[in-house]
Amino acid sequence: QCEPLRVAVTGAAGQIAYSLLHMIASGQVYGPNQPIILHLLDIEPALDALKGVVMELEDCAHSLLVGIVPTTDPLVAFRDIDWLIMLGAMPRREGMQRKDLLKANVGIFKQQGEALNLVAKKSVRVVVVGNPANTNALIAAHYAPSIPSRNFSALTRLDENRARSLLAIKAGVPADAVRNVAVWGNHSNTQYPCVDHGYVLAADGTRVPIEQALGGSSAGARDFLEGAFIKTVSLRGGAIIAARKLSSAMSAAKATADHIRDWFVGTRPGEFVSMAVMSDGKHYGIPADLMFSVPVTITNGEWSVVKDLPLSSFAQSKLQATAAELVEERTEATAHVEAHAVADAAA
Ligand code: NAI
Repeated sequence: QCEPLRVAVTGAAGQIAYSLLHMIASGQVYGPNQPIILHLLDIEPALDALKGVVMELEDCAHSLLVGIVPTTDPLVAFRDIDWLIMLGAMPRREGMQRKDLLKANVGIFKQQGEALNLVAKKSVRVVVVGNPANTNALIAAHYAPSIPSRNFSALTRLDENRARSLLAIKAGVPADAVRNVAVWGNHSNTQYPCVDHGYVLAADGTRVPIEQALGGSSAGARDFLEGAFIKTVSLRGGAIIAARKLSSAMSAAKATADHIRDWFVGTRPGEFVSMAVMSDGKHYGIPADLMFSVPVTITNGEWSVVKDLPLSSFAQSKLQATAAELVEERTEATAHVEAHAVADAAA
């Protein structure tokens, strides 16, 4: 049997973790032969809830789960880990803008980035889910300079899954038949879910362009794809909060599992998935040093941006808008980090 993977989860007593931990421990993420040691981090007020989660994990009697390390100390949680899933953050509540979350969360991701830098394996792979996910990932990467920045990512797979499912329902096909839908930019209202390179895989193996699968290249299909479709996908998180009075958790856990499994196992030949990764300023006019969601292919645990996809002028304007928002978030986050540093120095 292979060596256990050490997988740390922050916000382990929260609602996404409650769905995700079982998926990890049951082999749905790293495969049915991979033993796992779970490192579970939460904060002091959530310690009782965390104890309950540990009891339940024990009671699941998963044969792959060979150890559990519950703690409130990031230096314990991140020691020698192979993977880090960062859920721990303040969730967005009804009526709250994502930007309001920046201030509260900058401090958390700075502190946890520093801990990661000190004690994690340098090969650790990091997935940030806690919002604002892209900018939180940027901060964590910045404060963990000994770990390659390409090992950090933020979750936009939920947006991709929402987009694929919406198209599948409309086209009357299973969700898995909808392939190569790219989510560009920020996990926010400015994201751009793009179907221009996507297709529906028909039962006989033919690839039907999305627009055609939705009823041909009529103005109606195009209007939908550039209007109601983008709006529905980008506002879906808010719609779920309005309905549930809680942010999406089951679907966020499923998307996190999809994101990690593809990073671990690789993408299917000729297909891409969406992942927010550190931009290098060389592709699609995306500025450097942003955690920007792009289509990637993955082989042997390494992602590559899909290059040279033709982009319409509509698509280019969407990319510019979401990039501008991420630049603004980065500027605000940097100001908050500096304010934290001044307060620390004065204390
Ligand atoms: P939750 O409120 O149920 O759980 C968050 C957990 O994090 C709590 O147990 C809390 O005690 C813990 N926590 C807070 N500060 C912490 C810290 N400094 N260190 C460790 N743990 C800490 O929230 P939920 O629903 O599990 O969501 C988690 C995050 O994921 C939220 O920020 C939410 O907005 C975000 N989210 C992101 C999505 C995406 O697609 N990127 C989709 C859905 C949610």
